[in-house]
Amino acid sequence: MDHFLYRGGALHAEDVPVAEIAASVGTPFYLYSAATLERHYRVFTEALSPLPHLVCFAIKALSNTAVLKLLGDLGAGMDVVSEGEYLRARAAGVPGERIVFSGVGKTRGEMRTALEGGIRQFNVESEPELLALSEVASAMGVTAPITVRVNPDVDAKTHAKIATGKKENKFGIPITRASEVYAQAARLPGIEVVGIDVHIGSQITDLDPYEQAFLRVADLTRQLRAEGHDIRRLDLGGGLGIPYTRGNEAPPLPAEYGAVIKRTVGDLGCEVEIEPGRLIAGNAGLLVSSVIYVKSGEERDFLILDAAMNDLVRPSMYDAHHDIVPVVEPEAGVEMLPYDVVGPVCETGDTFARARPLPPLAAGDLVAFRSAGAYGAVMASEYNSRPLVPEVLVKGDHAAVIRARPSYIEMLNRDVIPDWL
Ligand code: LLP
Repeated sequence: MDHFLYRGGALHAEDVPVAEIAASVGTPFYLYSAATLERHYRVFTEALSPLPHLVCFAIKALSNTAVLKLLGDLGAGMDVVSEGEYLRARAAGVPGERIVFSGVGKTRGEMRTALEGGIRQFNVESEPELLALSEVASAMGVTAPITVRVNPDVDAKTHAKIATGKKENKFGIPITRASEVYAQAARLPGIEVVGIDVHIGSQITDLDPYEQAFLRVADLTRQLRAEGHDIRRLDLGGGLGIPYTRGNEAPPLPAEYGAVIKRTVGDLGCEVEIEPGRLIAGNAGLLVSSVIYVKSGEERDFLILDAAMNDLVRPSMYDAHHDIVPVVEPEAGVEMLPYDVVGPVCETGDTFARARPLPPLAAGDLVAFRSAGAYGAVMASEYNSRPLVPEVLVKGDHAAVIRARPSYIEMLNRDVIPDWL
């Protein structure tokens, strides 16, 4: 459920008409609903209760500091994968003890920043990383709390580019070698083992792979405890999928996912962490765009929008589907036309949808891409020298620009022409 609904024939974000925001901000822009973000966070905490737990929002899905503050103020932790994300979490007021640091390539500099600023744990992904962290922490005279990310070799049955838990993927340490790596971690100075981490992929719509992975983690917990390690925290990753096509998809609910967690690891007495990104942010955001032209094609008409693949790359990168809705509610029974929905960027890949049924649209009309809150703005680029798309947050009848559209001057001034040229 989200808070983007038609009221009196006009699409609203909570209590604010989307067209009103478009008139003041200009298109394209991302638009987030605070109530939806809050609801999705609460659904997870309820799903995990009464287990001791922390829901760590995966910042990579949506990293605007206003959104992080909103979630942080509700008590959320944060999952970061870079120094930049760490600094964003801190800038949003999230204390280090609620931040977990994931990622396969943490640099020594990144480790130092997190150790200085405070960190709940590093999710270590390789032996070289473990050694580097031991060196950095020892040199600083501190102890780094860690989990080791294990790769359980399960098929998450999702898009190949976002599956992470198979043995051929670059992530984690093979679960079969965990015992050896934990023994090494226990011997290293500056390292304190606190738990186990696993993350098997994203947009997962079947609970079976989770069940298999968590059962392996439960077995490993017992084994590592028997080997003398104090395993007290389990980070079970993120990845729960969302419906991208309204009315057609029913991915498992967070409550059902929570039930799998309780069934598989609930009796171990561990604190459970999860790292959802998409489920919290995905359906809490729209990308709003205007029609520039309607162009007649050989087979169908093209709807040429002012949003492009640089603003929302998921369709061209993963063949992802996003529902597209007109901002003015179509009349009941209006005849739908099949449009090829494209952006102005100079490549054929800049296609959002083919033969998409939409009510007749004309230049100047507004449309909204649904489910664009996660992996939308964060993956935007300035390709074709199109300034980064702005972001707006709505809460009740308040709307605020939470990242402004850069001016062309700002964009141009980042380049430097050397004086010897
Ligand atoms: N934790 C770790 C270690 C991850 O790598 C990810 C996502 C998450 C948590 C959050 O997963 P989520 O709950 O959002 O599924 N750009 C792609 C998605 C990439 C996901 C990468 N890792 C997309 O647009 O579909």
